[in-house]
Amino acid sequence: MKKVLVTGGAGYIGSACSEYLLDRGYDVTVFDALITGHRDAVDPRAKLVEGNLADRPLIIDVCRRGQFDAVMHFAAFSLVGESMKNPSKYFGNNLANAINLADAAVEGGVKTFVFSSTAATFGQPEKVPISENDRQIPINPYGESKLCFEKVLSWYSRIYGMKYAALRYFNAAGATVLHGEDHRPESHLIPIILETVRGKREKLMLFGDDYDTPDGSCIRDYIHILDLAQAHELALAAPESGHYNLGTGNGLSVFEIIRAAEEVTGKKVNFEIAPRRPGDPARLIACSDKARSALGWKPKYESALDIIESAWKWQLKFPEGYAK
Ligand code: UFG
Repeated sequence: MKKVLVTGGAGYIGSACSEYLLDRGYDVTVFDALITGHRDAVDPRAKLVEGNLADRPLIIDVCRRGQFDAVMHFAAFSLVGESMKNPSKYFGNNLANAINLADAAVEGGVKTFVFSSTAATFGQPEKVPISENDRQIPINPYGESKLCFEKVLSWYSRIYGMKYAALRYFNAAGATVLHGEDHRPESHLIPIILETVRGKREKLMLFGDDYDTPDGSCIRDYIHILDLAQAHELALAAPESGHYNLGTGNGLSVFEIIRAAEEVTGKKVNFEIAPRRPGDPARLIACSDKARSALGWKPKYESALDIIESAWKWQLKFPEGYAK
């Protein structure tokens, strides 16, 4: 049985990935500071170490004792706007604390490091779909912190021989039966739309209808968290280190997501056009051919309706999200 340390396993994608691994017989230890994560999101089959990656002796001790085959590193701050106001928070946690984890992984003899990277490492793309080798010029500290850590891993892999995969998520979305999106405050499109439908909020503020896209709203590539989880498991078995862009390759505008949500829920979405949100690129669409060919990755949720339906079921089951 493979032993995996999952940092950020109490968060949105980390908790779903833990569930996916546990369902497949992996031994999972979650390491989480429970700052943005939720205790109730930690799968009861996993061991939980409550701790912060800033605590270097602690994470080194956990990795030395744990005999982990792999580390999956989800723990990070991920709000673009916040990173523009407080870059220190992002470079401190997403880079400096992540280096503590990389050092601990080396000390603990961990063979494989799977890292949650992001489309935000590409900044304003020159073209879509975006391939792995396209220019990476982040336009905010969040994307820069993730790109810096990709480079750290590349050097650690050369120097210490630790294999790594940098998985660049596009727009993570959807839910499993048990694990879904509960950010406080929520800033992501699909949960906000569904909260609007449920009457939990009055309306969606649609950030910009004057982009250079067919309907004027931003286009994104929404990818189900279980498909991201599948890529994590495949990355464990990959013979070599690599970077992979993960999306379906289908770009959907904000208006298209609203219409899909109306179809899934059978209700109208109340929205108001608002000014553009600073830092939002008009289009982000992944070319994931490399993940498909090199990892054998096959996303199962190709349709936005299925992705939204899973998120809708989760909100109906957990109307207040996870317990406090
Ligand atoms: N949007 C709205 N109103 C809202 C929220 C979002 O119109 O209340 C729009 C955004 O402008 C954007 C789209 O919906 O066009 C998606 O926005 P999200 O906030 O759901 O997701 P982002 O594309 O901004 O961010 C995601 C990840 C980030 C990552 C980024 C890559 O959440 O962590 O993709 O650029 F950095």
